[in-house]
Amino acid sequence: MLGRSRLAFVLLAAAVTCAVAQHAPPWTEDCKKSTYPPSGPTYRGPTSWYTINLDLPPYKRWHELMTHKAPMIRVIVNSLRNMVNTFVPSGKIVQIVDQKLPGLLGNIPGPFEEEMKGIADVTGIPLGEIISFNVFYEIFTMCTSIITEDKKGHLLHGRNLDFGVFLGWNVNNNTWVITEELKPLTVNLDFQRNNKTVFKASSFAGYVGMLTGFKPGLFSLTLNERFSMDGGYLGILEWILGKRDAEWVGFITRSVLENSTSYEEAKNILTKTKILAPAYFILGGNQSGEGCVITRERKDSLDVYELNPKKGRWYVVQTNYDRWKNPFFLDDRRTPAKICLNRTYQENLSFATLYDVLSTKPVLNKLTVFTTLMDVTKGQYETYLRDCPDPCIGW
Ligand SMILES: *[C@@H]1O[C@H](CO)[C@@H](O)[C@H](O)[C@H]1NC(C)=O
Ligand SMILES: *[C@@H]1O[C@H](CO)[C@@H](O)[C@H](O)[C@H]1NC(C)=O
Ligand SMILES: *[C@@H]1O[C@H](CO)[C@@H](O)[C@H](O)[C@H]1NC(C)=O
Ligand SMILES: *[C@@H]1O[C@H](CO)[C@@H](O)[C@H](O)[C@H]1NC(C)=O
Ligand SMILES: *[C@@H]1O[C@H](CO)[C@@H](O)[C@H](O)[C@H]1NC(C)=O
Ligand SMILES: *[C@@H]1O[C@H](CO)[C@@H](O)[C@H](O)[C@H]1NC(C)=O
Repeated sequence: MLGRSRLAFVLLAAAVTCAVAQHAPPWTEDCKKSTYPPSGPTYRGPTSWYTINLDLPPYKRWHELMTHKAPMIRVIVNSLRNMVNTFVPSGKIVQIVDQKLPGLLGNIPGPFEEEMKGIADVTGIPLGEIISFNVFYEIFTMCTSIITEDKKGHLLHGRNLDFGVFLGWNVNNNTWVITEELKPLTVNLDFQRNNKTVFKASSFAGYVGMLTGFKPGLFSLTLNERFSMDGGYLGILEWILGKRDAEWVGFITRSVLENSTSYEEAKNILTKTKILAPAYFILGGNQSGEGCVITRERKDSLDVYELNPKKGRWYVVQTNYDRWKNPFFLDDRRTPAKICLNRTYQENLSFATLYDVLSTKPVLNKLTVFTTLMDVTKGQYETYLRDCPDPCIGW
């Protein structure tokens, strides 16, 4: 357990190191080539598949998976508890979360509340902490998402999921504590009704929203965090105070994957529904031109930026910054991703070239938990756990 001042010092040191070094090699590098199929030091391993049976009552759906993953989720929940207690040593915050949070949040609509209750009961972790575990993805997710269209109109969708910034740094091997603890919790999920796939997703055991997934033949969807003054905290506060007309972002993504039946319907819902936190939705369809980045404020959509192959726009890239603004100067993953896509050429697009782009630092960085590749029309879905050994930027 790091002391408070030590933790602050380590974060500061990490920030300074990264600030100085991001634009000098070896923190960035030439576009990677021939990294696929994954192997070598940036590949941690495969993710296992589990079936989630939507015909079961929500309370029971996660039992089998959570029975397997309970020890790993206890590790991460413990780390979070320790971090909170490091900052507020009395233990009061955890006590409030355990005793008061479920009441404060009231009824969470849809299947989510029952699903979280089932998870809490199987793992023996208090419901309030399971809810916090589900809320914190709304706040700390840094990511890169890409949709490409080749000369034949064939779409691909890829993403790196980067998570765990500021939540503690492990000085022994230069890794983020939470990022590392999420790797053994990462699973591929096959959501089924009547024994047939409804959608597939990659997620962290214990989390019932979805950030990455596809509906074979129809559409693919990823969620990236968007920082904004009118941020997620306000939305959550409003919710606690009783204004509950907005949807949780991870939950709306899950609902769309589960229940929408076309690209257009998904786009319409993701553009118009009021949400609790600002976000980017990256949505791909099953035919030429169907790919967009939806930039959301809580109430409105600010921008829908679409593929336009006739005008030469054969890809969209989204990190955590509005496309019409410069990225934060310490965190430009967008330009490297675009440079590498430009060097790939539209005629060479494949899972292999997309994986190359997503393996190039700093698109790949120490926060990267996994890389997902999706081909909606061929029904192919692959997720790989990642590492970024030194020298590698912290984010
Ligand atoms: C770093 O150390 C942590 C804690 O011992 C471990 O869980 C993690 O797997 C290590 N990561 C790497 C990339 O070696
Ligand atoms: C799904 O398949 C299992 C085993 O193959 C079978 O026992 C079950 O009845 C099937 N369920 C439905 C809803 O078709
Ligand atoms: C999907 O629709 C069904 C039927 O209306 C509903 O019971 C379920 O809660 C919905 N799923 C989600 C995740 O919203
Ligand atoms: C593409 O999606 C539409 C719904 O948006 C669906 O009607 C159509 O069958 C799909 N095409 C293919 C080839 O699956
Ligand atoms: C990528 O190529 C496009 C089209 O040629 C060009 O407008 C854009 O500036 C290039 N981006 C980068 C980052 O090189
Ligand atoms: C990619 O496409 C370009 C232009 O069509 C071609 O010259 C190049 O050889 C291709 N590269 C690979 C690795 O296939």
